[in-house]
Amino acid sequence: MSMEPVPISFVPKWKGEGSSRIPFWVYTDESVYRRELDRIFYGPHWSFVGLEAELPNAGDFKRTWVGERSVILARNEDGSVSAVENICAHRGAAFCRERTGNRKEFLCPYHQWTYDLKGNLTGVPFRRGLKKDGEVRGGMPADFSPANHGLNKLKVAVRHGVIFASFDHDVEPLEDYLGPQILPYFDRTFDGRKLKIHGHARQRIPGNWKLMQENIKDPYHVGLLHTWFLMFGLIRGDQKSRIVTDAHGRHGAMESTREATGKGAVSEGLHSFKDDMHLNDERIIDIEREDWWNGPTVVMLTLFPNLIVQQQSNSMSVRQIIPRGTGAFDFVWTHFGFEDDDAEMETRRMRQANMFGPAGYVSADDGEVLEFCQESYDSGDKARTTIAEQGGRDWSESNHTITENVLRGMYAYWRKLMEI
Ligand SMILES: [Fe+2]
Repeated sequence: MSMEPVPISFVPKWKGEGSSRIPFWVYTDESVYRRELDRIFYGPHWSFVGLEAELPNAGDFKRTWVGERSVILARNEDGSVSAVENICAHRGAAFCRERTGNRKEFLCPYHQWTYDLKGNLTGVPFRRGLKKDGEVRGGMPADFSPANHGLNKLKVAVRHGVIFASFDHDVEPLEDYLGPQILPYFDRTFDGRKLKIHGHARQRIPGNWKLMQENIKDPYHVGLLHTWFLMFGLIRGDQKSRIVTDAHGRHGAMESTREATGKGAVSEGLHSFKDDMHLNDERIIDIEREDWWNGPTVVMLTLFPNLIVQQQSNSMSVRQIIPRGTGAFDFVWTHFGFEDDDAEMETRRMRQANMFGPAGYVSADDGEVLEFCQESYDSGDKARTTIAEQGGRDWSESNHTITENVLRGMYAYWRKLMEI
């Protein structure tokens, strides 16, 4: 009996030129995912890795991920921030196991190869062998040069306290990468003020990593899925809004301005609206307008490939996306404020943070529906497509939120980059 090879019945093909109909296999195909890792996460893109406020002192380090690769960020003696891949140059052990800490150097436990914080190899036990009874036992070859065997160093860019890294040292400068449309939004929140970390939350969402980008690039679900927002008057469908992308379509910014507090008239007629619902603790939505907002009460940024920057009223977070195979990603929330916030504002920001995070009154909805979607992509006919045609089929700027234009922008870029 001969073993028949498993036939390959499926070759990814995306019909049509546009990006408004997205095939299911985009979220499930292993070879597509491998190409995403190579071209996006390990290619010429900047990935968010942390905030400077997480590494206040020389020797502070933090372990994180770029794509699926384990990466260590460190604050050097000279004040700079470096990022190295967590793979010992010797036998390849992922030597750093702690999430955070403070070190003078990195030490691989396997054979005690030692590296400075920038990843230079500083110590190799028995490099010149072990002398005993007038005889040298072992030792590395004479031409072994520690200078050639440091850790894999990533290129690092820091802008106003936010740290990005790239495996590709030829990546364009961060400012060019963000582009003139997105940079002002980035600098609105991160204008050089010192940040203060309020806390982290982590969750694993059983959905493809792109679904999280799509979720924030799609402002039209907000008034439909998030009944909590509607119920307590935090959004109205007729809010003044602006939605832009960078020239490539890969990043997105959504700003919206709530004119007044209170339950919105436009909520009438929606299933979720219940007039007799009220919060036991109204302080969750005790919102105070801040000067630096310059108008918008909400600004959500999606920076390709792995960062979401949230300013929703007084609550702020950066959310990092870490892909974990085709059907899952880790979502790491870092809630923050500013060092010059008074105690009252700090408490206000933390109270409002209850809306966000894995169990947030609002954000828990997103994690759940992304799971619903992935479930169908995994089980359904892979040739089926989703429809992202709200507001048209192109991805130009929009002055309202009833649109999926930025989502289409991301897939226009993705198709070009992936050559699919
Ligand atoms: Fe949402």
